[in-house]
Amino acid sequence: MASQKMKTPKDSDKYSVLLPTYNERENLPLIVWLLVKYFSESGNKYEIIIIDDGSPDGTQDIAEHLQKIYGSDIILLRPRKKKLGLGTAYIHGMQHASGNFIIIMDADLSHHPKFIPQFIRKQKESGYDIVSGTRYSGIGGVYGWDLRRKLISRGANFITQVLLRPGTSDLTGSFRLYKKEVLQKLIEKCVSKGYVFQMEMIVRAKQLGYSVGEVPISFVDRVYGESKLGGNEIVSFLKGLMTLFATT
Ligand code: GDD
Ligand code: MN
Repeated sequence: MASQKMKTPKDSDKYSVLLPTYNERENLPLIVWLLVKYFSESGNKYEIIIIDDGSPDGTQDIAEHLQKIYGSDIILLRPRKKKLGLGTAYIHGMQHASGNFIIIMDADLSHHPKFIPQFIRKQKESGYDIVSGTRYSGIGGVYGWDLRRKLISRGANFITQVLLRPGTSDLTGSFRLYKKEVLQKLIEKCVSKGYVFQMEMIVRAKQLGYSVGEVPISFVDRVYGESKLGGNEIVSFLKGLMTLFATT
C-alpha cells in the first residue's frame, strides 16, 4: 500500500464508453454484449453511454431495451432529436460521463471491444494522456474497404502528416481512450463538428504536449447498415485541415 505509484491500477478508475449511433439497430445489441463481456472479464468499472441522433430505423428503441436488460447503471441513454454530427455527439455524451477515462468508438462493430483491455494496459504502462488505436502501424490494418475508401483515409492521413507533422500514425481513426480532463481540455480547443473532429483532437493534443500511446487495431468494415461519411464530410475535412494549418 505504501509504495503505490502513479502507474498502479486504482480501484477508482472507471471507463465511460461513448457510442454515437445513427441507424445502428442491427449492430447495437452485439457491440453492447461484447463490451459487457470484455469489461466483466477484465473487472474494470465501466458505463456505456449511447448517443442516438433520432435514427429513423428505431435504434433508440433497441437502446432502451438494452438498458432494461443490462441496467441503467451500465447503459446510459443520452439521445438527441436529430442528426447533429459526430463531433458534437461525443461532446454531448461526455457531459454525462462519470468515469475518469473516456473511450470513444464506433457502434457498427468496426472497432472491436477486444482491444479495450490492451488500451487500458497501454495507458497504465506510462500514464498516457491518450491511447489511440492505429490502423497504420504494427499489426494494425483495414479490412473490407474498397480502393476509394482506402485512398480517402490514407490520403487524409498523409496530407495531415505532411502539413501538420503531429507524429502519430493514425490521425483520422476514432477508437481512442482519453483521460477525461484531457478530453475536456481538447474539446474546448476544437472547432470542428463532423468527422474531422478526430483529426483535430489528436493534432491539438500533440501541440498541447499531451502524451499519446498507440495500440495497433484491425478495423473491419461494417456488415450491417452503411457508412455516414459522405462527400460533404470530405469537404469539411479539407476545410478543417486548412484552418488548422493556417492557425497553428
Ligand atoms: N449520434 C450520431 N450522430 N452518430 C453518428 C453520426 C451522427 O451524426 N454520424 C455517424 N454516427 C455514428 C455511426 O452510427 C457509427 O457508430 C459511428 O458514428 C461511425 O460512423 P460510420 O458512418 O460507421 O463511419 P465510417 O465507418 O464511415 O468511418 C470510420 O472511419 C472514419 C475514418 O477513419 C469511423 O471510425 C470514423 O469515426 C472515422 O473518422
Ligand atoms: Mn463505420
